[in-house]
Amino acid sequence: MENRSNYVQQHKERFINELVELLKIPSVSADTAFSQDVLDTAEAVKISLEKAGCDFVEICETAGYPIVYGEKIIDPNLPTVLVYGHYDVQPADPIELWTSPPFEPVIKSTAIHPEGAIFARGACDDKGQMYMHVKAFEYMIQSNTLPCNVKFMIEGEEEVGSVNLKTFVENNTEKLKNDVILISDTGMISNQQPSITTGLRGLSYVEVEVTGPNRDLHSGLYGGAVANPINILSKMIASLHDENNHITIPGFYDNVEELSLEERAEMGKAPFSLENYKKALDINDVYGETGYTTNERNSIRPTLDVNGIWGGYTGEGAKTVIASKAYAKISMRLVPNQDWEVITDLFTKHFISIAPAGVSVVVKPHHGGQGYVTPIDSIGYQAANKAYTETFGVPAIPVRSGGSIPIVALFEKELKSKTILMGFGLDSDAIHSPNEHFGIFNYLKGIETIPLFYKYFVELSK
Ligand code: BES
Ligand code: MN
Ligand code: MN
Repeated sequence: MENRSNYVQQHKERFINELVELLKIPSVSADTAFSQDVLDTAEAVKISLEKAGCDFVEICETAGYPIVYGEKIIDPNLPTVLVYGHYDVQPADPIELWTSPPFEPVIKSTAIHPEGAIFARGACDDKGQMYMHVKAFEYMIQSNTLPCNVKFMIEGEEEVGSVNLKTFVENNTEKLKNDVILISDTGMISNQQPSITTGLRGLSYVEVEVTGPNRDLHSGLYGGAVANPINILSKMIASLHDENNHITIPGFYDNVEELSLEERAEMGKAPFSLENYKKALDINDVYGETGYTTNERNSIRPTLDVNGIWGGYTGEGAKTVIASKAYAKISMRLVPNQDWEVITDLFTKHFISIAPAGVSVVVKPHHGGQGYVTPIDSIGYQAANKAYTETFGVPAIPVRSGGSIPIVALFEKELKSKTILMGFGLDSDAIHSPNEHFGIFNYLKGIETIPLFYKYFVELSK
């Protein structure tokens, strides 16, 4: 497949420029100030699919942001690959921490990406990774090597929970029929060591509100005599972990899958340096559940984290006040077999039960989703592994990720097919953080590797 890497080399300037144009549109799904930009991005994705060679592309309206659907059906008797990705991005804030504006992409080199990386919100998550599929498809069309049918489903609400995609999938199971789902929205171990994500964590996201007195009070006149919602909320949150950092919600661990020592030993073989991990984050130690390694804590174990907490006076200077209300946003990362709706329920009951007299508590569920695992003996996994082996020179390692793509479990339920997570990002690419970037090496390598997945998937399916 000499031609493949020649094609990528020949067209790399254009591939980069096209991605840069896409990254300039601030498609932040969480913030309605950007709603026109999100819609413009859907339009841009549609045009890119048409240009790359889809026979049919449409913008499918939903109750929220639209889904871009495209397809190239060459023979109904051949297998069909369904590519999923998202064109929406996380908010860019805190904007002041970006070294260049988040929606003015620039290429800079870094220690890990000496050949350069594109800095922009969405560069890696997920515009860059999604666009690799469009360009890999373009290559297969141009070189007449597309070996099967392709369907693209690119959504605009992944970063806010894919709520409307769920309905779309449920209502369009025939249209979305496929033999395998292919997604690049995860990472790999390093540019020298590719990996394939075999698991994703589920998620339950809730917001809590603790109310004390009916108005903010003078903290001298009333302090000590009434419940302070911020004090109470802090105590309640602190009680959700015990001294071993186990979560204290009754029933929380009931369905957690315990991996065998063999499986854990196998996982432990993936290259990892605790020293580098600490150095990269400027921390003097790691922290987590007793009895598990860092990589186990962030992948096969469930967690509970406060994502934001507020209330009272946070402005300049000091104001003496007991706030009427305190709030927190809390996420629980779940492992396969934990049902997110059951967990949301357990959390709600427990959190309300631990509230002392003197306050009232409301728990508002946001979104959630189930975790996911996929075996490594499937045709899809084998095809992905052969593809990585060919372009990186070493086989990929299976890795369970700590992140969530809740829609993947729904795909399995509704479309009855497995998803292969071929990620090309690195943990250091700062997704969701200031200065998100995506290595040029990774982008081009992805474009080179993806056509091989198609090739081997079709070969192994025969
Ligand atoms: N692409 C990420 C998920 C991801 C990143 C998985 C890296 C594995 C490795 C996705 O866009 C994301 O951010 N998902 C959210 C969940 C969603 C419901 C908001 C997450 O994991 O927080
Ligand atoms: Mn993503
Ligand atoms: Mn994301």
